[in-house]
Amino acid sequence: MFGNLKTQPADKILMLMQLFKDDPRPTKIDLGVGVYKNAKGETPIMRAVKAAEKQLWEQETSKSYVALAGDPGFADAMINLVLGNAVDRGNVSAAATPGGTGACRQAFEMARMANPDVRVFVSNPTWPNHLSILKHLGIETVTYRYFDNGTRGVDFEGMLEDLAQAKPGDLVLLHGCCHNPTGANLNLAQWQAVVDVLLKTGATPMIDIAYQGFGDGLEEDAAATRLVASSVPEMLIAASCSKNFGVYRERTGILMAVTADKGLSTLTQGTLAYLNRQNYSFPPDHGARLVTMILNDDALRADWAAELEEVRLSMLGLRQQLADELRKLTGSDQFGFIAQHRGMFSRLGVSPEVVSQLRDDHAIYAVGDSRINIAGLNKETVPALAKALHKCGV
Ligand code: LMR
Repeated sequence: MFGNLKTQPADKILMLMQLFKDDPRPTKIDLGVGVYKNAKGETPIMRAVKAAEKQLWEQETSKSYVALAGDPGFADAMINLVLGNAVDRGNVSAAATPGGTGACRQAFEMARMANPDVRVFVSNPTWPNHLSILKHLGIETVTYRYFDNGTRGVDFEGMLEDLAQAKPGDLVLLHGCCHNPTGANLNLAQWQAVVDVLLKTGATPMIDIAYQGFGDGLEEDAAATRLVASSVPEMLIAASCSKNFGVYRERTGILMAVTADKGLSTLTQGTLAYLNRQNYSFPPDHGARLVTMILNDDALRADWAAELEEVRLSMLGLRQQLADELRKLTGSDQFGFIAQHRGMFSRLGVSPEVVSQLRDDHAIYAVGDSRINIAGLNKETVPALAKALHKCGV
């Protein structure tokens, strides 16, 4: 039986993690996988997470199952974090999932249950695993224009034109903030125009929000999701706690469904719980419990938000430093976009040959589409990257 299996393509981001690990060069720089690193190259446990973990160790008396959709307290806390007061709580159903990836997977499955012919509109480019999961599920994808390689900004006109082709029963996947892999984002006026197109087409939006707090701030990064949620009759939201709580390996995420009708909310809540049961039964609880404790405790929440803000500002500083270094070396502002982009990533827009040269000649690891993880840099390595890029002829 197993002889019938086909070799599956390796995930390009995860493959890069291994290549980096195996590289013996002491000066190597990892700008690959989207994991936050501080100036020492470490991915620390956030202070509030550690404090919550200590409390939990003292207080937790059972490891018995919680609920198929996870702890309702986690759902309440996360709905509040992502949606604020944008919609009535009674119109939102939610289920905890293993990370944001789990939420995406469940969202696609739920959309297919609702419409077996669903097409999912995805930005060009999008996070490669979106495409991989959709392909695995046999769901048709339609690409909409997004990144303009000339300006390294958003091809907004092209995006609107392509989104206008969606129809009722289609799912339109949007990145709520900090677009992965490009770092190029819409402003709120542009989001409003996207909402108008969505309403015209009758398609259902799905927002993947995996980096809330990494772009312009916790509230600012949620503004687009809130705008969409308060404007459309139905939507899905896949939210991840991996990055903004730094709980990557705990697999902490949530899928929310917003409906105009409270009766529908009961139906979607049941579907979310059913999907959890079919795929893995109960979702992981540890990370979700920590997140709930932090969000519900004023002191822990304030400390978490402060540390997240430090992380955000340090990435902004590195963006500015890299843009400045490249301006000095190239004598042009062609890399000024790096300071404008937001989130963990920027797509540099350089060729795959340059990406290979960076790796082979300079031990600098970026994803093949020239996505760099800004948090993989520090004040000392920014000039090294700028020099290496310049040596590669950019
Ligand atoms: C990334 O884009 O690097 C992260 O979301 C990690 C992953 O699982 O790919």
